[in-house]
Amino acid sequence: MAILYQLTETSELMMSFVMVTDKNNCIVIDGGQPQDMPLLKQYVDGRHISAWILTHAHMDHISGFVDEFKKNGGADFDIEKIYYNFPPYDELIVKTDVEDPEYFRSELNNMLPEFNAVLPLFRDKTHIACQGESIDIDEVHIDFLFSYHEGLTANLMNDSSLVFKVTTPNKTVLFLGDLGPSGGDLLFRESRHLLKSDICQMAHHGHGNVGMEVYAEIMPEACMWCCPELIYNEEEVPEYLSDTQRFRRMGLIRLYGAALTRKWMDILGVKKHYVSNKGTQRIEL
Ligand SMILES: [Fe+2]
Repeated sequence: MAILYQLTETSELMMSFVMVTDKNNCIVIDGGQPQDMPLLKQYVDGRHISAWILTHAHMDHISGFVDEFKKNGGADFDIEKIYYNFPPYDELIVKTDVEDPEYFRSELNNMLPEFNAVLPLFRDKTHIACQGESIDIDEVHIDFLFSYHEGLTANLMNDSSLVFKVTTPNKTVLFLGDLGPSGGDLLFRESRHLLKSDICQMAHHGHGNVGMEVYAEIMPEACMWCCPELIYNEEEVPEYLSDTQRFRRMGLIRLYGAALTRKWMDILGVKKHYVSNKGTQRIEL
């Protein structure tokens, strides 16, 4: 039986998972920030990492991974393969026909330059994961259901999240990364028939995320929330989302606080919620 650990936060608002297969190999998802690395190492516990999946190039997800390579070339981990699919920096940084050029550039500069700087250290281990691809690691099957789509510029990095479904002999788990409303629309349009899963990682820490119709197709029995208490308990329209005019200009009008997502999960009848700020969660798959 595979065991999935949803790691608790050492840094606020991070995402980190370790899956241990029945042959005692690991699959790591994101990892969080540099300060989250000691806990990650504790759970990896020297095991072989068959796959390290990086959902998207934001610091709360991959800055720990990048820092490990900066520090010592990733020497503390035994990594076989790294899966990711990030937007092309050089092509996009000169783009001006976007909703909010300043925000667009800040998104590109959030982690991509740092990631690209260390990439030569592990390039031979990388695989650009594309929608429609699958991989098998011991008894765990992974289908990539969504990868970077050109033209989703308003919420560039979150909407470039890799979405993938993990299938074990007993359970299915859907990872949504930080996918936003527009990415969610495309996921729904292209792959809604593939979404049904037992457990779901709530997109973008449970707020500003994919629409209700996506969750209604997933119809999860359990949800995994990677979020601090502050976000888990935030209102439907928190202060930082209250400037409607600004978010309209940015093309981000469909962002809501976690209260709305929690309401949706109640409507869907979800009873079990794993929340990262409550400690590391151990989930049997
Ligand atoms: Fe995030």
